[in-house]
Amino acid sequence: MTAPLIQVRDLKVHFPVRRGLLGRPRGWVRAVDGVDFDVARGETLGVVGESGCGKSTLGRALLQLVDITHGSVRFDGQELVGLSPRRVRPLRRRMQLVFQDPFASLNPRMTVRDILSEPFVIHGLSRGAERELHGLLDVLGLPKDALERFPHEFSGGQRQRIGIARAIALRPELVVADEPLSALDVSIQAQIVNLLVELQRDRGLTYVFIAHDLKVVEYLSTRVAVMYLGRIVELAPARRLSQGARHPYTRALLSAVPVPDPTHPRTRQVLPGEPPSPMSPPGGCAFHPRCPQATERCRRESPPLYPVASGHSVACFLAEGDALGSTQASSLAGGSGVLAQPSSPG
Ligand SMILES: Nc1ncnc2c1ncn2[C@@H]1O[C@H](COP(=O)(O)OP(=O)(O)OP(=O)(O)O)[C@@H](O)[C@H]1O
Ligand SMILES: [Mg+2]
Repeated sequence: MTAPLIQVRDLKVHFPVRRGLLGRPRGWVRAVDGVDFDVARGETLGVVGESGCGKSTLGRALLQLVDITHGSVRFDGQELVGLSPRRVRPLRRRMQLVFQDPFASLNPRMTVRDILSEPFVIHGLSRGAERELHGLLDVLGLPKDALERFPHEFSGGQRQRIGIARAIALRPELVVADEPLSALDVSIQAQIVNLLVELQRDRGLTYVFIAHDLKVVEYLSTRVAVMYLGRIVELAPARRLSQGARHPYTRALLSAVPVPDPTHPRTRQVLPGEPPSPMSPPGGCAFHPRCPQATERCRRESPPLYPVASGHSVACFLAEGDALGSTQASSLAGGSGVLAQPSSPG
């Protein structure tokens, strides 16, 4: 069994809320509030959940782009939390971010040559970069004359190809893609999905793929983490998700996916209310105020992630009865190498 590329344990990222830049914090936004998971080399971990549940913050935390409040992030066995910027820098080469909006993330005054050369320059690898650049255009399906042009001269899909080219230029091992399809037309999305799949196959990339669209996530991912208010509420193999989802929140998300076939309507379960503020999450299970199956216990206690099958854990008391014993769970973890640890309540 190979060691996971990423190991996250009890990770918390809390942002202070201040009045004015220098004021004392009035409170804290618990953007990520105690998550545990591993990502195996070569797999794609999908991350889904409603707006504001902490997906982007989690992605940025993996790359040490936000201050970590608590917990551990290991990359290839090395602890990243608490490393000085000087020690993080060489590791940056090995992990990259692809952004949602390729237009906002590409400097409009830089040519594509400058944009793609930048990572080489930053890491002192300018020699040989020119050949790499031409190779990148080829792999990304960009026109040969692209290097001398500016981002605005390209279509949305091509701009996202440039964003991806920049991310993979230094041959990273991990790519965190934060809603890379959301700004694109549906017809272009499929091309970018196929490109990401090809790149993963050819370069052995590991992806953390953040998205709203559950269908795309199911298609691309090995496993899917469903987030709610800064926590992972369900972690399951992607192929198990649509039939085997156990958490009432995951089920609600799945039932909200539009089904194009009118002869096969899926009853759409609308979640009552908005997600509560991450500044003052409800006590007990954070989902209980919106959960159709909540009991008294859910108001008082926060459920841990119960392992219910290989690679599948659920933070819901409804799954408690099916939870595997610790011996079963650890033998399964040994088999798949990707079973999550239970997250700590509170
Ligand atoms: N730098 C910051 N300072 C203060 N609060 C922040 C900061 N970044 C994010 N937040 C807050 O943290 C919570 C999680 O935000 P995040 O952007 O991670 O959510 P998200 O799941 O990516 O949402 P979306 O789907 O809209 O992109 C939100 O309440 C957000 O307002
Ligand atoms: Mg986001």
